[in-house]
Amino acid sequence: MPELKWWQRGVIYQIYPRSFQDSNGDGIGDLVGIDARLEYVSALGADAVWISPIYPSPMADFGYDVADYCDIDPMFGSLPEFEQLVIHAHHLGLKVLLDFVPNHSSNRHPWFEESRSSRDNPKRDWYLWHDPAPDGGPPNNWLSRMGGSAWEWDEHTGQYYYHAFLPEQPDLNWRNHDVRRAMDGVLRFWLDRGVDGFRVDVLWLLIKDDQFRDNPLNPAYQPGEPEHHRLLQTYTEDQPEVHEIVRSMRATLDDYGDRVLIGEIYLPVTQLMKYYGAAGDGADMPFNFQLLNARWSAATIAGMIRDYDRALPEHAWPNWVLGNHDNPRIASRVGAAQARVAAVLLLTLRGTPTIYYGDEIGMTDGDIERDQVRDPAELRQPGMGQGRDPERTPMQWERSLPNAGFTDGKPWLPVATNSSVREQDGDTSSMLSLYRRLLILRRSHAALVQGTIANVVANGDVLTYERRYRDQSLFIALNFGVECAMVQSRSGVVVLSTSTRRDGEVVAAGTIPLAAGEAIVASV
Ligand code: GLC
Ligand code: CA
Repeated sequence: MPELKWWQRGVIYQIYPRSFQDSNGDGIGDLVGIDARLEYVSALGADAVWISPIYPSPMADFGYDVADYCDIDPMFGSLPEFEQLVIHAHHLGLKVLLDFVPNHSSNRHPWFEESRSSRDNPKRDWYLWHDPAPDGGPPNNWLSRMGGSAWEWDEHTGQYYYHAFLPEQPDLNWRNHDVRRAMDGVLRFWLDRGVDGFRVDVLWLLIKDDQFRDNPLNPAYQPGEPEHHRLLQTYTEDQPEVHEIVRSMRATLDDYGDRVLIGEIYLPVTQLMKYYGAAGDGADMPFNFQLLNARWSAATIAGMIRDYDRALPEHAWPNWVLGNHDNPRIASRVGAAQARVAAVLLLTLRGTPTIYYGDEIGMTDGDIERDQVRDPAELRQPGMGQGRDPERTPMQWERSLPNAGFTDGKPWLPVATNSSVREQDGDTSSMLSLYRRLLILRRSHAALVQGTIANVVANGDVLTYERRYRDQSLFIALNFGVECAMVQSRSGVVVLSTSTRRDGEVVAAGTIPLAAGEAIVASV
């Protein structure tokens, strides 16, 4: 077996920069704050941090509307501070991944300002401009993922422009080769500054139908769902030409050696697999989001693991994601007890895990009052369940400090104080200790990092599987239920359990009990 790459051995930790650590009292997290917490991330046992966008931005979508791809927003800090952060991270053995947002820029980006200045501006074709329909309305039925038509009228030049998200986020035209060259320059700008890879925002949306055909109606649409679900995304996502672009991004990263290309892609597994590239020349890891909205049952998860493993192309490396800044937190989705089971699952499955900041202390979705809502998705379509503020509340460092130690000022979102790093730190039964123990276990067991996964079985509420590498064999059993269950095991030793009491317990071959919500890893 070839030597694994660092991102295959490693664990990724996602930082939402506005919410990690504020250093100057403006209530918004920043680079100096992140820098000050790198020791924490490293001691947790993560190998890389992925930082959501930190570029200059009017913040219509909190940084996912980029006004300059090659600088740092003053709200977050400066380029020298970023370079300092990279040096510090590397010194600690942590890789640094940036969020690359190529599908759309801010409407305040100079490219778009030029593009909209006149129909014959050289950058006109950098964005998707279209004449109105004969009745003067939008050119077709495409809908924005943030509600309403995806077309915005531009009075000055008498055409519409396309935006998959906010009108403040015009989509770039990736069929234009100058756009491709400019974006390649952006990747190189950051790679030259030591960045170890990228998470590419909405990678599967980059190319849209060049004939601008109407999307078909979605027959499964249910009233109450977000508006864009009314249509299938047939002509606005996952177009075949996207793969050539993924390949070119990958080729750029390859010029720099061991850098990683991760794609944000919400697609069914078979379509997802194509993003690895037909010849393994695509993304290193198309994000596997299946756990984000999986029905939380042993049978569902077992089926998912088996199907995913079977669908993976031969040289493709798997990965699993339990949470991110766009989805409700795991502890709120499944409850505190099952969040511990989920932690064991994430860190014992085959493939690179991504941990969302705060999940390691069991943070739950924050309560956001109506007048505290900041997310444009919620402001534009209230009550649709699209709001993402709850999973973006500030990191809880120390309960006894104002704002749990996140800021001296007024936090941009309310800080929950139900639990904190400081409190969980010395408590061996805490979620934080469980995460740390799991991360140590991964480092010390090759079977967890590079072993095969086999015998994935659901029996009632219990999911079991084995990870094997050479003569090492680990048996994992997770109880998704609220009752005690019996599990069939070979003889061995418990190397980790969610209830710390069982660590080191010798198990004889036969049936062993699992308490409600208990998970164990046994060396067999
Ligand atoms: C991605 C980001 C999300 C953002 C959207 C538009 O899905 O994760 O936060 O709103 O892209 O950039
Ligand atoms: Ca700040």
